[in-house]
This record gives sequence, structure tokens and C-alpha cells, in this order.
Amino acid sequence: MKKNIIRLTMAMATTVAFTACAPQKPVLSFEHQGDTLTIVHITNPTKYLILPIQESCNEGKVKLDTGSPADMAMDIRLAVDSVEYYVPFALPKGEKEAVVTIGRVAADAICWDSIQLADTFNTANTDYYRPVYHHTPLYGWMNDANGLVYKDGEYHLYFQYNPYGSKWGNMHWGHSVSRDLIHWEHLDPAIARDTLGHIFSGSTVIDKNNSAGYGQDAMIAFYTSASDEHGQIQCMAYSTDNGRTYTKYEKNPVLTPFDGLKDFRDPKVFWYEPAQKWYMIVSADKNMRFYSSSDMKNWEYLSQFGEGYGAQPNQFECPDFIQLPVDGNKDNMKWVMIVNINPGCPFGGSATEYFVGDFDGKEFHCDTDKKVTKRLDFGKDHYATVCFSNTENRVIAVPWMSNWQYANVTPIRQYRGANALPRELSLYTRNGEVYMAANAVKETEGLRKGTSSIDNFSLADEKVISMETGQDGACEIEMDVTPDKASVVGFQLMNEKGEKTDIYLDMKAARLVMDRTKSGLIAFGEKAEPHAKETDEHRKTESVNYINDFALGTWAPLSLCEGKTYHLDIFIDKCSVEIFVDGGRIAMTNLVFPTAPYNSLRCYAQGGNAEISNMKIHKLGM
Ligand code: FRU
Repeated sequence: MKKNIIRLTMAMATTVAFTACAPQKPVLSFEHQGDTLTIVHITNPTKYLILPIQESCNEGKVKLDTGSPADMAMDIRLAVDSVEYYVPFALPKGEKEAVVTIGRVAADAICWDSIQLADTFNTANTDYYRPVYHHTPLYGWMNDANGLVYKDGEYHLYFQYNPYGSKWGNMHWGHSVSRDLIHWEHLDPAIARDTLGHIFSGSTVIDKNNSAGYGQDAMIAFYTSASDEHGQIQCMAYSTDNGRTYTKYEKNPVLTPFDGLKDFRDPKVFWYEPAQKWYMIVSADKNMRFYSSSDMKNWEYLSQFGEGYGAQPNQFECPDFIQLPVDGNKDNMKWVMIVNINPGCPFGGSATEYFVGDFDGKEFHCDTDKKVTKRLDFGKDHYATVCFSNTENRVIAVPWMSNWQYANVTPIRQYRGANALPRELSLYTRNGEVYMAANAVKETEGLRKGTSSIDNFSLADEKVISMETGQDGACEIEMDVTPDKASVVGFQLMNEKGEKTDIYLDMKAARLVMDRTKSGLIAFGEKAEPHAKETDEHRKTESVNYINDFALGTWAPLSLCEGKTYHLDIFIDKCSVEIFVDGGRIAMTNLVFPTAPYNSLRCYAQGGNAEISNMKIHKLGM
């Protein structure tokens, strides 16, 4: 027993209503042992301990102490000198006493005065930039989409989630469900960080043949447990209540790297019909490794693919492996390996690429030369993209809409991280090569709340259209653009503060560009200031008007399209712009932070004319 008890403070819960017949008052007391360990004693616990957060603070170690070896300390940035927001920390139900230990937070930190007991946690939105129609967690941090699976009419979106602050940490699988890919219901996290490690990314399948023995149609999740102690190992958990709760397999892990690889993660499992087996693809440093299994618990190594292919400045992450018909022809099926790379984006940071080829049940054979890089999206905020399993004839992908360069410092507080719109993937041929298109799913039409049609016009002179948008500027703009000798045909989304996102076809360079250098807030985080000396050479040459990690223009080659007329479909939300050209041959996803919603569209042409037809502006809302 420690002798150096410095202070003992008592605090009553202030937020709990008492009734005459409920005299069991919740009581909270802090026992500071030394300067960096505090024991929190709670009598008659409420549902939550409400913890004050300051993002610039170091992480404290907060543990619900039940005396079990399975107790896990969560890393929480408790406020030291000012409170920015609060997060709930669940307490055990039906107990008389609970003990929470808090390590690495000084006894004179401000948090001790504002920790509270409560039965509710207010999740009403407090973020200016929370999207109107994109999925976000109610509060806390989100990165990759995980374990996407469709079952019994529900799309399950699990995601890399920190429930204890809006910066990366304490990886859990958060959980939301939807019946239409647009309206999401927030559920409790499905898989929590444990003593084997953070619950990193992975996948979920429906066990139709009861291969794993947890019942027919059990949902089986595969994820990476990641910790300094155990490294990165693949684990399994199952759910028999439609994905609400998962039980971890008692003999986890099911797969460890045979060569001690440090980067070995993000298992994607799929049923491979010809072999009547389950297959797993795992990112393994600069390769993707294939394994197969009959019972999902014992995995046999088959092969690996990747080293030297495409853009590869760092390890591969978050694989997916899907089969699609080329040009809709089911007699010509191709396999596509989706690979997420970070860093490696030509515009800096994170990006998604893919390889098209054939799979013989053991090895993947890529159709193209090692040097060829095909990109799934040409914006800067499209990462960790993976697809739903069990969607029959459709392949639907969901990206995380951010970039590791600045994901932790975007001007958002209550939640941090959104998904880009779900996209339907398809293969098309262009100049003898097979490419993958990513188009916003047709369910997005359900967001439309009224449409204004604009008469066709020619861009001899510029034209400014005032946009009737949905809530907070949410809208979708569709049009057909036919450049007629113009060297540039542009569309500026503008607000009354003079902020603008400039979208233009640069016909000389044959590029579609989205320039966000003047889009609103453009500088935050450590690299907020323009770089006097930018060392990352490729970013200077490849991106347009590069100022800092955020303020730049991203571009896509128009050669992916048939040309002559381009169909643009532009989705604008509170802090994002997504463009889909010609059914997703080009997809471009970028965050923007205008300080007032964009409400007009300036259309212009330089060096010639352009015809704009079939323009429609849809108000979007939920
Ligand atoms: C990709 C990633 C994954 C990992 C997860 C951790 O963004 O780095 O490789 O599983 O994030 O949160």
C-alpha cells in the first residue's frame, strides 16, 4: 500500500436527479497517490464518468479496475489547463462500487474539478463543419471503414473508432447501420480495444455454411490486434445478434506473420467459390499475402503480390479483392486488388490505387506492367477504401474522407472523421486497358429535396448562377460540358466571403482540376504555414498551386473519359466536394472548409467557348 496519499477530494454527482425513494446517491472521490496516479472511487455508479478532454495534453491511462487481467487502460487526453469537450467513460451496471485508476495525469490538473457522474451524455451536434448527409460518428475520432457487410436488409458500417477523444487512439470498431447507404443509425461500438491490442482494420463475412461453428449465418469479423507487446496479429470474433455485439475467439490470434513482419494487418476475408474455401488477403509490408482456410481458424499461406508494383513509397494497407465484369460482360470477369498507400498520394499523404488482373486460386497475376499506377480517386481525401461483402451483384466501396497528413488537426472538435459517399465500382475499357470506375451509389438520389433546372447556355461570357441549396449549402450539381475550343472551362463554387473552390477542365493539359487554395480555412495543424522550402519534390510538380499540405489543387487525367462531352456530378456538403465524371471514370474527393456555405456558381471559359447543357441543381438533405 502506498504511503504518499496527498489529497482526498469528495464530489457529489451534480447531473443526476434524485428521488425521495432513491437515496443511493452516487459519490465520487479522488485519491491522488504521488503525482501521477489517481484512484477514483465511485459509490452507486451512474452509467458514465464524464471526462474532460484537452487535445494538446499527453494521454493519461484510464482503467476501469475490476481486478481482472482483462482490464484495459484507455489512453485519454484529460484536461490539464483548459477543458475543450467531454467524453463518456462507461461504468459497470448494477454494482455498488466501481474503481477507476488514472495514471500519468498530474494531481494539479484541471480535470479533477470537472470529472462528473451522469446517466446520459449529450450528443447534440456542436461542430460547425459536421456534414449534412455524410456519415460521421456522433462524437470521437473515426478513420478507416471496417468490416463492411450487408445482412438482412442492413448495411453494417464498422469503423476505426476512438470513443475517448477526437484524435486517433484506443482503436475500437465503431458501428452504424443503414437500410439505404444514406441514413445511418449510430450503435454502440461493436469490438473494443483489449489486452491483445488496438482493434485495427479488417472485414466481416456471413458464415453461410457454418464453417466456423458459431451457427449458420453467424457474422464473423476479422481484425488486426496491434500492440507493442504482441505486434500485428490477425484475430477473429463472431456475432449471432446481427452484428450488434461480438464475442472474441478464445484462441486468438488466428494468424501471425511467419517471418515476424512488423506491418502485417487489415485482413480482408472472402469466400472463393472454385476452391470452396475462405480466403484472406492481408497487407504485409510492401506485399499483399493470400491465405486460405476451411474453418476460418487455421489459415494456410498461398502467395504474395505487390512488391515493386504501382506507387509504393511505403507499406501497403487495407486491401480488398473483388471480382467484376469488364464493360458489364459477365463472361469477362476480372479480379481487382484494391490497395491503400500512405504516404504515396501524388498530392501528398494517403491515396488508393488498384491492380486489375486474374486469380488462379493461388496467385494474383496483374495485367499491367509494374510501373503502372491506377488510382481510384484523384482527390486528397479518399483513403482506406474497402467494399461491402454479401452484396450479391453490386460492389460498393466506402472511403474514409481524410488524409493522414492532417486528419488529426482538421477544424473539428466533437467528432473528427467522415466517410465519403458510398460508391458503386465497375470496370470499363479505355484504349485497350481495363480501369475501375467509382460512382456515387444510386441511393444518393434519395437525398434530393427539390431540383432547379438551368436552361442550356453557352459560355461565351461568364455566367453566375445563384444556387438554391439544401440545408447549410448541401447540394448536387449535374451538367454536361462540351468544350468548344476553350482551353479552360471552369465552375467556381463561391460564397459571399469571397471564398471559392475552383473546378475546371484544363483542356490543354487534359486535366480535371479541383483547386481548394482559396476555399475557406486552408491552414491548420503543424504544417499550417506555407512551406518556404518544400522538400517533397513530386508534390511541387504534380499538384496545382501547392501552398501547404491542405491548400492545393488536385487533378485527374481527362484521358480516362471518352471526351467531347463530360458529364459532371458534383456533391457539396458542409466540408467536402466530391466530383464524379462520366459515371465515375474520374472520382475526386476533397475536404473544404468554407466559413459560409457556397451559394453561387460562377461558370467561365477561357480561350474559346463551351456549351453547358442539362444543368440541374438538386437541394440535398436528410
Ligand atoms: C489505415 C490504417 C490501417 C490500420 C488502421 C489503424 O488508415 O493505418 O492500416 O489498420 O489505420 O487505425
